[in-house]
Formats: sequence, C-alpha cells, structure tokens
Amino acid sequence: MHTPWDNRYAQRTQRMGSSAIRELLKLTEKPDIISFAGGLPAPEVFPVAQFQEACQKVLSDFGAQALQYSTTEGYLPLREQIARHTARYGIEINPDNILITSGSQQALDLLGKVFINPGDHILVESPTYLGALQAWNAYGAEYVTVPMDKSGMNTDALEEALRAGPKFIYVLPNFQNPTGVTLSLKRRHRLIELADQYGVPIIEDDPYGQLRFEGEHLPSVVVLDDRFRGNCRECYHGNVIYLSTFSKTLAPGLRLAWMIAPPEVIRKLVQAKQGADLHTASFNQIVAHEVSRGGFLDEHIKLIRKTYRERRDVMLGAMDRFFPPEVDWTHPEGGLFLWGTLPKYLSSADVLKLSLEQKVAFVPGEPFHPNGGGHNTMRLNFSNATPEKIQEGIRRLGEAIFEVIGAPVHVR
Ligand SMILES: Cc1ncc(COP(=O)(O)O)c(C=O)c1O
Repeated sequence: MHTPWDNRYAQRTQRMGSSAIRELLKLTEKPDIISFAGGLPAPEVFPVAQFQEACQKVLSDFGAQALQYSTTEGYLPLREQIARHTARYGIEINPDNILITSGSQQALDLLGKVFINPGDHILVESPTYLGALQAWNAYGAEYVTVPMDKSGMNTDALEEALRAGPKFIYVLPNFQNPTGVTLSLKRRHRLIELADQYGVPIIEDDPYGQLRFEGEHLPSVVVLDDRFRGNCRECYHGNVIYLSTFSKTLAPGLRLAWMIAPPEVIRKLVQAKQGADLHTASFNQIVAHEVSRGGFLDEHIKLIRKTYRERRDVMLGAMDRFFPPEVDWTHPEGGLFLWGTLPKYLSSADVLKLSLEQKVAFVPGEPFHPNGGGHNTMRLNFSNATPEKIQEGIRRLGEAIFEVIGAPVHVR
C-alpha cells in the first residue's frame, strides 16, 4: 500500500534493514523453541531481590531527585565507582573520562554520529558484532575487514588493512561476539603499535571481559595503550575509546553502560548524546549504583561465571557427542557465545531451516561478515538456556547437521 511517507525517508534508511537476529528472535519467542540464537543473559541470575530493595531505598533516600532530569555525563557517584573499578584493572582515570550511555548500543551509535562521514572506512574483525554494523550503516560506513582466527584479530593482516586509511579500528578483545575468541596478549601489543604507527584510533568493545571462567585475565587494550604512551596519571588521553556495560553483569533491561575516552572526546560525545536522549535514565543509574555498592557486584559476577561455565561445558560436551566430526568449533574461555564452522560445502542457513522444524534456533554466521563470507558458520549462545535444554537442543541440532550432510546420525 502506498503511503505519504514512502518517498520521504532519508537516504540513510536505505541501509538500515532490520537485523537478521531480531527477526529470528521473533520466531524464537515461542516457549517450545530451544534458542541458542539471542545474546540473552540467564534470567535465573538476575538479582531481582537486590533491585527490589535498592528501588525502595533510592526512593526513600533520594525522593524526587531520583525521578528528576539529570546531567548528560551521568550520575557522578556511578562514574566515580566505575573509575575506581577501572583503576583495579590497571588504568587511572577520572570521571571526566567517563560518559554513561543507554547501553553500549547507544555508545556505538554516538560514535557513528560523531566520527563517521558517508563513505568512511571502518576497520573491523570479520566476523564482528552485528549491532555495530547496524549502528554504523546508518551513517554510511564502509568496512575494511581483518580475518579472525583462534587468537583473535589476525594482526599480520592488520597492517595491510590499515593502509586503506580507516577512520578507526573496532575490536572486541574478550570472548568476542560472535566467535567467543580472545585476542592474545602478543596481538594486543601489536595492535597498539600498528595503530600508533598508522595514526588510527581504536574502539575497544568489552561487554564480556569480566565474565572469564578459565585462563588468565589479559589487560585490556586501553590499559596497554596507556602504558605504551606512559600517560599522565589520573586522566586518560590515549588512542583508545573503551566501552563496557552493566547488561551482562546486572541486567540488560537497565540499558546502562559506559564509555571511557579522552575528556575532549567525551565533550563531543556529550553533545551528540544531548540530541539523542538528554541523559540516561537517572533512576536506573542511582539504583544500579546502589545495587553494585559494597562488593555486591563482585560477588554476583562470581555466580554468573559459575553458571555460564557450567552451561558452556554442557554445550561443548554435547557438541562432542552429537555433532559430526566434520564440524569445528571454538572453546571460549568466557562470555556468552561459541562459534561453529561446518564444512565449506554446507550452508548454515540450510541447517537452520531443518533445526527450526526440530524447534531449535541459532544464528547463521553470514550477517556478521560485513563484506561477505561465513555461509558455513554459526553462532551459538550458551548463557540463556538451562543445561537440560542445551543438552537436548544440541542433540537435535546435531541431527539437523547430519541430515544436511546426508549421513546417518551418529552419536559418540
Ligand atoms: C559486542 C557488543 N557490544 C555492544 C552490545 C550492546 O550491549 P548493551 O546491552 O549495553 O547495549 C552487545 C550486546 O550483546 C555486544 O555483544
């Protein structure tokens, strides 16, 4: 049907198409589907009672102030808390380095608004986080891609990609969405050196860094960059903008995240955010500060790690048992996702058609590759379904893969 709106959409909407994941999630909302498709945390670990208590306390202690407009930069005690937390991981910053955003998704959008002109090239890992592509497509971004392997972004290929003159590098060093892979320490150093040599800044997106269940914590790129530059203490002025979020440690429904950047960049981002939403919900910020005070968050994160580790192990064990030997997959040391690779002659979209008939969903890997590829790959989320459902879902998915391969089902 023709409407008066049809020919009035801005050009930028032409590349906005809705995300393949969101469309798929609509299908998976049915209760009988076992979904490995979304990136949803386990609802069982949401600290509902702590939120209930904190909401009451905030309303009685702060009253109307908690319901009032507030500053764009964000609630100062929350920014101070984030600065203290960041100091524990090796970088001294102050609240002027921090902007509270309405989810890291908004941070990505603000970065697009502030930095991307139509036709600018952004250097991304391939595959990379779909939500970043969605945010930046609207600003007319083009992409230069660097392949991933089991140690993260391939820094040997990075130098050549940097010669294309990208506006910035977008990297997900810890338990990457979608692959679950972690960037090795050696490559982190190489990334910083090359970015410095070519004068290209880095956006480090780190929603999962705190959710490590095994192996050693690796310093984040922003910390290594700070050391590399020998910056002044207490204020970061380096080459990296760092993003993290409360979505995976407290609750995604809060829509609460933060960016760390040099103060002059924060001022620009603040102007962009004013035009977007004035500020992130004051009430949510004060409540999140209240909930995470006094060491609760640290304890809570231990519970999340334990829960996700168990689910990851169940998924890996079931894949060993029920998947054909031709399939390869990653072994994430943390986070929410793992990545499967089918033989090249198979398409994960074909597997999805069959697995949906068996009421199991996952996300085919192709859309995570901005310049194409990955038709035989798949992202599997292990945080949301219970261990029993993971076991059963992987069994059914294994059957679907055997069927696409055309081989009789074989359980090890
Ligand atoms: C890599 C990455 N960046 C950003 C986001 C968005 O997170 P938020 O809920 O804070 O908007 C996600 C969410 O899954 C993500 O995986």
